[in-house]
Formats: sequence, structure tokens, C-alpha cells
Amino acid sequence: MVHWDVKGKSVLITGGASGLGAAYVQGFLKAGIKQVAVLDIAEDAGKQFTADMNKTYPGKVIFVKCDVGNEECITAAFNEVVAKFKTVDIVFNNAGIMNDAPHIWRKMCDVNVQGLISFTYKAIKHMRTDDGGAGGTIINIASVAAITKGDLLPAYSATKTAVLQFSQCIAGNLFEQAGIRILTLCPGPTDTPLLHNLKERGGDERAGEKLENVLTNSEVVTQSVDSAVKAMLKMYEDAENGSIWLTTDNKPVKNITPVIDDAFNSFMNAMRN
Ligand SMILES: NC(=O)c1ccc[n+]([C@@H]2O[C@H](COP(=O)([O-])OP(=O)(O)OC[C@H]3O[C@@H](n4cnc5c(N)ncnc54)[C@H](O)[C@@H]3O)[C@@H](O)[C@H]2O)c1
Repeated sequence: MVHWDVKGKSVLITGGASGLGAAYVQGFLKAGIKQVAVLDIAEDAGKQFTADMNKTYPGKVIFVKCDVGNEECITAAFNEVVAKFKTVDIVFNNAGIMNDAPHIWRKMCDVNVQGLISFTYKAIKHMRTDDGGAGGTIINIASVAAITKGDLLPAYSATKTAVLQFSQCIAGNLFEQAGIRILTLCPGPTDTPLLHNLKERGGDERAGEKLENVLTNSEVVTQSVDSAVKAMLKMYEDAENGSIWLTTDNKPVKNITPVIDDAFNSFMNAMRN
């Protein structure tokens, strides 16, 4: 099995100013990454986090303000990072919103889906070895919401299933053709601000209350951020192009590609029979 090493690599990560994104950045830095571009809409938090990281890892982290739901911002930020780093080895689509409320769900779709698709296309163009690039890895963050059926957050779940389906479809033979891996990670509930103010995240008041009741139920394990970071790094080391991984309940990361493949094979069989 090929063993991938983050040492010497340059990474662009969206939503990297706080929550899981910031923790992934720290995980990469500890593992010896060369440099990190943190993209986030939260400018103050992003600048503060970058300054803090550069105290321990001088000159390794830059901050670029970017609204992942806005195409012009995406283009400007991507070009700025490529101009600074020359080669970007890892594009990490982490930014995400979890909120089905009437005034937010469209923005959520822009960030969780359109933004991720746009960065993926730009990354593929930049990385393709059959077009002069250096190859690389694209990490797309889905969720257990992508693979569970329930009425808690239908719009959020739809965005995450879109991430999973887009990632597995575009992966195709990209590694053989262009030296690029597309990896998808599905985290379960993880201890970040995303799980705060749950009542305000439902499609309406009733849905918000149900969401809070279910997610604060003692049977739901909220895993540590540390567990998700370990999972991501292990996936980066071992994963093949097109594979899908699960990190939940503080358990070791699991390659669930065979399970997803079985499900899609069942769909194919249903179409044939
Ligand atoms: N925490 C969980 O339980 C959990 C579970 C499954 C999947 N995820 C996914 O993991 C990813 C990170 O989640 P988190 O828990 O760290 O969330 P979070 O809310 O704690 O942090 C999200 C980060 O994204 C940034 N962001 C929000 N909108 C943005 C925009 N328009 N442009 C750029 N940046 C923006 C925020 O400023 C913040 O820094 C998301 O894609 C989320 O859906 C989280």
C-alpha cells in the first residue's frame, strides 16, 4: 500500500479559522506540513488563529479572507494562494454550514455544495500531471448526514449527500490519468460550535426543538475534535482515490467505500431487473 506523507506539502483549507478546520491545520503543522493557507469568511478569527500558529510555526501559515459561497471570492482566493505557494498539493474543502432555517438554507447550499465543487474543479486544473501539474489530494468533507435518512436536517443532509456523490463520481480514474486523489470524510457529531444553538438550526421551530432533543440525547456520542483530526490524517496517509471514510464515536477511522459501493450496486441491480 502507498503511504502518503504530509511533510513538505502545501495545503489550502477552507473554513480553517475555527472548529474542525483550525484543528486540522494544527494536525497538519504537527505532522510537518510545509505551509498552510487558511481561507475563511471570519476575518478576525482567521487573522488571530494565523498569528497564533505562526508563533509556533514561523511563516508557515497565511490567512486569505474568502466567502466560499461566492464565486468571485473563490477565484480571487485560489489565485492568491497559487501565486504565493506556486504548487498547492492539498485542497481541503472543509467549510460548511449546518442550518436549515428559511433565511440560511440557500447560503448553506452555496457554501456546502457549490463552493466545494468550484474549489474541486480549480484544484484538479491546477494539479493535473497530464497538464503540467504536480498531482495532489483533494479532501471533501461530507457527514454521517450524507448516509442516514431522517427528518432532522433535510436540506443539510442533501448538501452532504451531494458532496459524497460529487466526490465519488468525479474521482473516476483521476489518479491514473492525472495523479490526483479525491477523498471524502464523513464525520459524526463532533464537539465544535456547529453543534451549538441547535434550536435555531432547524427548518422551523418544531424541527429545531426536535434537533436539539435528539442531538443532546445521552445515547448520541459527540466525538472529540482530536479523534476527527487523527481520522483525517490516517485517511490522508492510506486512502485511495475515490474512497469514502467514516469518523464517529471516537472510534478509529473506517474505510466505508465497500459499503457505499454495495449500496450503489443495489441501485444498479434495481434498474436492471
Ligand atoms: N462538527 C460536527 O459535528 C460535524 C459533523 C459532520 C460534518 N461536519 C462538517 O465539518 C465541517 C467543519 O465543521 P465545524 O464543526 O468545524 O463547523 P464550525 O461551524 O465550528 O466552523 C465552520 C468554519 O467555517 C467557516 N465558514 C462558515 N461559512 C463560511 C463561508 N461562507 N466561507 C468561508 N468560511 C466559512 C466559519 O467561519 C468557521 O470557521 C463542515 O463542513 C461540517 O458540515 C461537522
